[in-house]
Amino acid sequence: MWQTVTLLMLATVAWADLSTQTNEDINTSVKKTGSGCHHPFVTVGSRCYYFSNEELSFEDAFNYCGGLSNGQVVEISLAMFDYSIQEDQDLLDAITARNETFWIGGKTEDGNQWKWVDGRDVNIEATFWFNDEPNEVDNTCLITQVYNFNNVHTRTYLYDSNCDDPSHFICQTGCPIHFRRLGDYCYMMSSDIGIPNLPWQDARDYCQALSVYEGYHADLAVLGLPNQDDYYIMKHLLTSHGGNTWVGGVKKGEGCQFEWLDGRELAIGSMFWLYHEPDCSGQDHIVLINDVNLNRRYIGEVDGTTAYPFICQRFKDV
Ligand SMILES: *[C@@H]1O[C@H](CO)[C@@H](O)[C@H](O)[C@H]1NC(C)=O
Ligand SMILES: *[C@@H]1O[C@H](CO)[C@@H](O)[C@H](O)[C@H]1NC(C)=O
Repeated sequence: MWQTVTLLMLATVAWADLSTQTNEDINTSVKKTGSGCHHPFVTVGSRCYYFSNEELSFEDAFNYCGGLSNGQVVEISLAMFDYSIQEDQDLLDAITARNETFWIGGKTEDGNQWKWVDGRDVNIEATFWFNDEPNEVDNTCLITQVYNFNNVHTRTYLYDSNCDDPSHFICQTGCPIHFRRLGDYCYMMSSDIGIPNLPWQDARDYCQALSVYEGYHADLAVLGLPNQDDYYIMKHLLTSHGGNTWVGGVKKGEGCQFEWLDGRELAIGSMFWLYHEPDCSGQDHIVLINDVNLNRRYIGEVDGTTAYPFICQRFKDV
């Protein structure tokens, strides 16, 4: 009991401290101006992180990071790994430089499967785990610790740890609120959050007006990018009841050529087309077609004036 009260007070003090000094800064950091991350977040690789001064239990740290999302356009959570080798290495290096122990956003409920707080499985084969970790049944939360080998080298590894122990922790920015991460990108499905169906141009304007963190912009989603799982997108971002969904493809000129909004050709030989599409009848905007009877997804060309749901995607500014 005594311990619980102390931790709650700690959490309150920590939050009050940050909220009086830095809310404005955090808010600025989520607007599309300038580059880099704003205090108390720091830039590491392609992401913004907050390395806490406070020491909290795993659960209090989890809530602390989540609380930083309030009123912001990006979601903020405990930091995670398992994105790309480069992102993982960048964060490990930043932790090593700090020479401190931090909670990160991984946990096991059943003592077997470790999960990131965004629901992804923690890769149990990844080399960010220390030697024979995880190895304690009672330690069900993920912590990073700096390991020095005979003063020859110093590296950071992941360990299982007792969730109740107070520790520093790391918060990170993720996909903007309402966007979900699929592979390397963040996507927003309009019907997920109750946005009415719109004609193609209005849908595009809507995506482009979204504030999606500095250094990024949003537009209608495209297919065929490297590291983008097109099948997964076509399966998971369409409304379950079938029909058409706007994406970022248009007809190019007068002929029967199409392109994605980033200028890449949408080849007429692409296997994504429905078998009789495009029919070159003058329709000029690209939809994803969800054929629920066949359980297949295709692209097709339709007239841009009809209102459909749409998918926005977040891109890095170039
Ligand atoms: C952040 O900005 C939004 C709108 O710009 C505002 O509604 C919100 O209250 C601000 N949050 C904080 C914590 O200042
Ligand atoms: C890192 O911290 C440990 C103990 O917390 C200390 O012994 C060591 O000297 C520190 N290393 C550096 C490079 O500061």
